[in-house]
Amino acid sequence: MTQAPRHTPHHGHHTARNDHHPRDVEDQAELLDLDGEVLAEHIAAITAWLPVREPPRQIVDLGCGTGAGTFALLAGFPEAHVTAVDSSAGHLQRLAEKARDRGVADRVRTVAADLDDAAWPHLGSPDLVWASASMHHMGRPDRTLRTVHDLLVPGGLFAVVELAGFPRFLPANAPQDRPGLEERCHAASDRHHAEHVPHRGADWGPMLTEAGFTLDGERTITVHIEGARTTAVGAYALGSLRRIRHTVADTLTAEDLAALDRLLDAGGPGSILRRDDLAVRTERTVWAARRVR
Ligand SMILES: C[S@@+](CC[C@H](N)C(=O)[O-])C[C@H]1O[C@@H](n2cnc3c(N)ncnc32)[C@H](O)[C@@H]1O
Repeated sequence: MTQAPRHTPHHGHHTARNDHHPRDVEDQAELLDLDGEVLAEHIAAITAWLPVREPPRQIVDLGCGTGAGTFALLAGFPEAHVTAVDSSAGHLQRLAEKARDRGVADRVRTVAADLDDAAWPHLGSPDLVWASASMHHMGRPDRTLRTVHDLLVPGGLFAVVELAGFPRFLPANAPQDRPGLEERCHAASDRHHAEHVPHRGADWGPMLTEAGFTLDGERTITVHIEGARTTAVGAYALGSLRRIRHTVADTLTAEDLAALDRLLDAGGPGSILRRDDLAVRTERTVWAARRVR
């Protein structure tokens, strides 16, 4: 089911980063699966909102990860086939296995490609292209957006879904000995991302218009899921904060880092998994952009 890329994607920094550290790929894959599970209803609501003129038949999911969007699109558009594209072979393999398990393998094609490359493999003639939490990773988003514009059939829709930042899980006064710790972690993480991933949290509307699209709608969905003692929410909180720790460990104070480590010690008395006040608070924004002609 996986089509070999036209080029060997071993020079792209995303591929190199993902494929040379299997543990990191696996951690990210698990987090993407949890994100898809916890936010499933919200992702379905976004697909249902899309201003498509006809039910799409050919969909491309760019930076598909482990398939949160792919499977929501297959469920929302029962006539459609999805071409799922990512630079991570590990994520694509996981997605393909899920497609087999769910009996929809005949409706999914996986394609390994680095979307930062100027030339993309053949992705058909989609009437809907979906990119969730992937566009901000692009090194040259202006070029990527123009490529998507030319890939779509006239009248087709490009749905860009992005998040302002990582979700919040703890109340503002937690943990008791270091209140506000989570916000300080996010502030440090935001500073890191502003430098390394400058398009995270960007306003994609003007960039889409600049690339030749007509904006047909924009919507922000606010997510607030109470998750006390829900296994998926606990695991999602643990996985997310572990990832943030990786980025912010060097910039936090020793006291904050120690408090974070107590939360992340899954078996310890201060573990985030033992808290009964967890919630998922985040936002997703979707831009629906049409190729007019
Ligand atoms: C945050 S994840 C989002 C995954 C999925 N769309 C979702 O909503 O769960 C970003 C994905 O984009 C992929 N990605 C990042 N840069 C890429 C590139 N240059 N080419 C192809 N895929 C890329 C990553 O491998 C990862 O799977």
